[in-house]
Amino acid sequence: MSTGIVVAVDGTSGSGKSSTSRGAAERLGLRYLDTGAMFRAMTWWMLRHAIDVHDAGAVAAHVDLPVLVSGTSPAQPTIALDEVDVSAEIRSDAVNAAVSPVSAVPAVRARLLAMQRAIIEEALAGPGIVVEGRDIGSVVWPQAPVKLYLTADAGARASRRAAETGSTDDAAVERTRESLQARDVIDSERVTAPLTRAEGAVHLDTTPYTLAEVIDLVVDLVEGAKAQA
Ligand code: DC
Repeated sequence: MSTGIVVAVDGTSGSGKSSTSRGAAERLGLRYLDTGAMFRAMTWWMLRHAIDVHDAGAVAAHVDLPVLVSGTSPAQPTIALDEVDVSAEIRSDAVNAAVSPVSAVPAVRARLLAMQRAIIEEALAGPGIVVEGRDIGSVVWPQAPVKLYLTADAGARASRRAAETGSTDDAAVERTRESLQARDVIDSERVTAPLTRAEGAVHLDTTPYTLAEVIDLVVDLVEGAKAQA
């Protein structure tokens, strides 16, 4: 019987989900899955193959072609597309601008959902996994014993993202803020698996906290859930 745990981390773009999820997974000895990277890789493939990302039918027609492999090490997460590492490419502005429409296509979500569940099931044979995204607690793994919903105010999110990319002038921060907010609107308003606070999810507004503090909070929640199991 499986003794592993699933920690579902959902939330808005730039709320600190990735750093928090990786840090907590490392501390807890769990695997880590970045589902956003899977949607980004799918988007990169569509762009590379000149598929119109605003044509849902065209995107759906190609959804089975990319060969995607997600590595689940929290210290070194990887994402390979057709056997080539695309960790850098999937963070490009072109992908940022196209990922929300691609993620709204039901056929894209269906294919990635099957892959995500298979990865989770495999991790459950061991200690378990921290999975981050938009619909993990609501759709991918609603039975997760620990669910988090992370948010942060728009200014804080833009400044953090800008610091990560090294573009810290006012105009760059403002562009980042607009891009994050535009994605949140599309991600929250789409019909299939929108970004939402899942039933039972603990809402954490990370604005006033350091990353180390948020990781401590998550580790405490998971330890508490394990003690109750
Ligand atoms: O977490 P991220 O910013 O890398 O995610 C990129 C996009 O992928 C996000 O704008 C919406 C989509 N996404 C999704 O629809 N569902 C998920 N579980 C994860 C990401």
